[in-house]
Amino acid sequence: MGYEITLIPGDGIGPEITAASLKVLDATGLKFSWDRQLGGMAAIASAGGPLPEATLASIRRTHLALKGPLTTPVGEGFRSVNVALRREFELFANLRPARTIVPGGRYDGIDIVLVRENLEGLYVGQERWVERDGDAHGQAESVAVVTRRGSERVIRYAFEYALTHGRKNVTLVHKANILKLTSGLFLDVGREVAAEYAGRVAMNELIVDNCAMQLVMRPEQFDVIVTTNLFGDILSDEISGLVGGLGLAPGGNIGAHGAIFEAVHGSAPDIAGKGIANPSALILAAAMMLDYLGEAAAGDRVRRAIVATIVADRVRTRDLGGTATTEEFGDAVARRVA
Ligand code: NAI
Ligand code: MG
Repeated sequence: MGYEITLIPGDGIGPEITAASLKVLDATGLKFSWDRQLGGMAAIASAGGPLPEATLASIRRTHLALKGPLTTPVGEGFRSVNVALRREFELFANLRPARTIVPGGRYDGIDIVLVRENLEGLYVGQERWVERDGDAHGQAESVAVVTRRGSERVIRYAFEYALTHGRKNVTLVHKANILKLTSGLFLDVGREVAAEYAGRVAMNELIVDNCAMQLVMRPEQFDVIVTTNLFGDILSDEISGLVGGLGLAPGGNIGAHGAIFEAVHGSAPDIAGKGIANPSALILAAAMMLDYLGEAAAGDRVRRAIVATIVADRVRTRDLGGTATTEEFGDAVARRVA
C-alpha cells in the first residue's frame, strides 16, 4: 500500500514537472499510493470550479499532498486556490529552504531557511472599494490581520526548526517602525518566544527593506528567517534568486494536522508545454515531503542526486544554462537515486 498521498499535478508546467518528480520518488524504492486530484485551471474545465470538493475530501483523508503550481488570474477572477488550501487545512507555516547547488555562481555557500507566516497579514483577502472623488472605485482598501496566536505558532515553529536542525540564529523580519500594531505585534511576540530559547537559538531583528538589501550584499549572515505573509512571499523569491532561481526553490505548507509540498514557483505559462521546465524545485519539495514522512534518508538521497546530476553529471535544464529537457533531467536524477 505504502504512503497514501494526494497528488495535484496542477497547471502550466505542473504536469511536466510532476511526471519527472514521480519517477524520482519511484526510484527511492518506497511505495506510494497516489490519489490524483484536480485543482486550478485544470479543474475548472472538468470539475466546474478551481477547488473541487473531491480534492478537499482527498486531502482531508490523506492529510498530505504533493502539488504542482496552480494558475491564479491577476486582478479579477477566482481567488487563489493556493491560499484557499492553506486556509482550509490551517497550514500556518510556509517552509522555504534555499541552498547553493551550482558552485561558482554569483553567490556561494548560501544556506537559508525562510519560514513565512502562511494564513494572516494581507492575505486574509479583506479588500473593498470605497467611493472617492465621486468615483465608486476611487479608493481601494485592504485589511492586514495579525494575531498573537498566529504569530506565536509560526515563530515557535521557526525556533523549533532551528533547534532540531542545528541552526543557531533566527532573524525576525518586520516593519514595526511603520506598521506599529500589525508588524509590532509580530515583533513583540517574537521577542517573547526568543526569550524561551535564549542560550540555544539567538534571534536578531531586521526591518524588511534593510533585509532585502542585506540579502543581496551579505546573504551568508542569514540562517533561519521568520516573517509575516507578504514579506515572506517577496523575500523567498529574492532568496531563490541567490541560489540559481525559481527552478531550484522548494517549499512546504505545514500545519498541525497536515502538509502540502510544492515548488515556490508558479505555472510558468511562458514555457508550459515545451518540456524545458526545471523539475528540481518540485523534486526538492518531494524530498522535503520524505523528511516529513520520517524518510529523511530517502530525502537526503534525492537531494544528493539533484546536486550530482547538476554539478557532477552537468545535466542541466535551460534555466541553468543547459540543454536537458524536463524528462531527461528527471530521468538522470532518478538514475542517481536508484
Ligand atoms: P512563475 O513562477 O510561474 O514564473 C516566473 C518566471 O520563472 C517565468 O519566466 C518562468 O518561466 C520561470 N520559471 C518558473 N518556474 C520555472 C521552472 N521550474 N523552470 C524554469 N523556469 C521557471 O511566476 P508568474 O509568471 O508570476 O506566475 C504564473 C502563474 O503562477 C500565475 O497565475 C500565478 O498566480 C501562479 N503562481 C502559483 C503558485 C503556486 O501554485 N504555488 C506560486 C506562484 C505563482
Ligand atoms: Mg510567491
